Amino acid sequence: MSRLAALIIVLSSLLQSQLPPDDFRQRRQAILDRLGPADRMLVLTRPVFIRNSDQDHPFRPDSDFWYLTGFWEPRAVLVLSGSEISFSAGEETVSGREFLFLREKDPRAETWTGRRVGVAAAPARLLIEQAVDINHFSGAIEAILQDADTAYMNLSWSDAAPPLDALAEATLQYLPPAEERPRGAFRRVRALAAKLRRYREALKAGTPQLAYRQAGDLIHPLRLIKSPAEIELLQKAIDITAAGLLAAMRRSGHGVYEYQLQASVEFAFKDRGAKRSGYEPIIGSGPNALILHYNENDRRMQAGELVLMDVGAEYQMYTVDITRTFPVNGRFSEAQREVYNVVLKAQAAAAAALKPGITDADINRIARETIVEAGYGEFILHGVIHLIGLDVHDVGVRGTPLAPGTVLTIEPGIYIPADAESVPVEYRGIGVRIEDDYLITPEGAIHMSRDIPRTVSQIEAVMSPQR
Ligand code: GLY
Ligand code: MN
Ligand code: MN
Repeated sequence: MSRLAALIIVLSSLLQSQLPPDDFRQRRQAILDRLGPADRMLVLTRPVFIRNSDQDHPFRPDSDFWYLTGFWEPRAVLVLSGSEISFSAGEETVSGREFLFLREKDPRAETWTGRRVGVAAAPARLLIEQAVDINHFSGAIEAILQDADTAYMNLSWSDAAPPLDALAEATLQYLPPAEERPRGAFRRVRALAAKLRRYREALKAGTPQLAYRQAGDLIHPLRLIKSPAEIELLQKAIDITAAGLLAAMRRSGHGVYEYQLQASVEFAFKDRGAKRSGYEPIIGSGPNALILHYNENDRRMQAGELVLMDVGAEYQMYTVDITRTFPVNGRFSEAQREVYNVVLKAQAAAAAALKPGITDADINRIARETIVEAGYGEFILHGVIHLIGLDVHDVGVRGTPLAPGTVLTIEPGIYIPADAESVPVEYRGIGVRIEDDYLITPEGAIHMSRDIPRTVSQIEAVMSPQR
């Protein structure tokens, strides 16, 4: 390994991402280039959710926030401005176009909840223009929006809860955890909400109206097209998921519980550096294969049944989405094989059509037609295509022609209810989904998950020593 490669590895481990900070800086620059002088963008990360008592759920940054910052700590807001703005933060006046509000260093709190980058180190470490203590955020909002005519925010809002209320509401998430919560924090947040409401009323009554837009309008077209470095991370997530599925196929057998297959998959994920699953693993055996988002995963499996495993590793924040359906004891029955091969044919037909310019509607139609022609049309429950990336159902607008650099899944399924009288008894209760991941290229598509056993003979071969 070269010294440079070693240095990059050390730096990436410090930064918690394999993508260098300059990639994130370039993404922010692409947004700044698109903002008019009176445009502002405020991107909040996700709140920390309480799991029970004083324990929190594991924290994961907001995907849009991560895409622009690569910053992994909770309680942070990115502000981008189309022109230079100034506001006061405590004693100081801060000026610039790019601001990251984040937690200040606090040795006592860090002993409990982990290391912080802190305000002083953030500009060099994250290549951000200005870093500001998050405690100054609520005081700075008015000044940030003062001369703005458009505010892009990553909040969901309705007419009943206009964006500034939503923003005030969202700042509740910036309350520090209990052990470091200053007295009066709740009172201050309530005051902020009131202040923002008054500000909104003043804007409504007077000059120029502030327009609100979704930050995603500008961020998502960038997220849609994956860079070579992002494609590498997705491929790595696929390779890790492949290892998990293979381990589960080898673990499967009569009397094994669904959660034991989950354990095999999750061991393979963590053992290979995937921090978590991109979504709750779906491991449905027998009748549970017919429940699309089943995740109890606690049934004892029986020989002769199929088990449907829909799992995806999240690697460096990028998640993939793969489904394999296989016989619990490694051998398909005649009926199971027949249904399985129809689903496989539908997937192959849809995948063969992938190329730049085709739409999700075209892909859905091709898969559906194949299943309908085989006589199983009444057992289709869902469409077959969605995009993947930082989110398992990644950003992208339906009907948009697919472009090179898009990564997606194709996942046809046939789900025959146990009481379906239109089919012979041996077909009843069979549920099959097959899901694979593809990259659109200028020439067509690359089947990124092609190495995971998929045909009946490949699956039976992998599971052959099984009872
Ligand atoms: N794993 C969720 C889905 O297949 O869309
Ligand atoms: Mn899936
Ligand atoms: Mn999917």
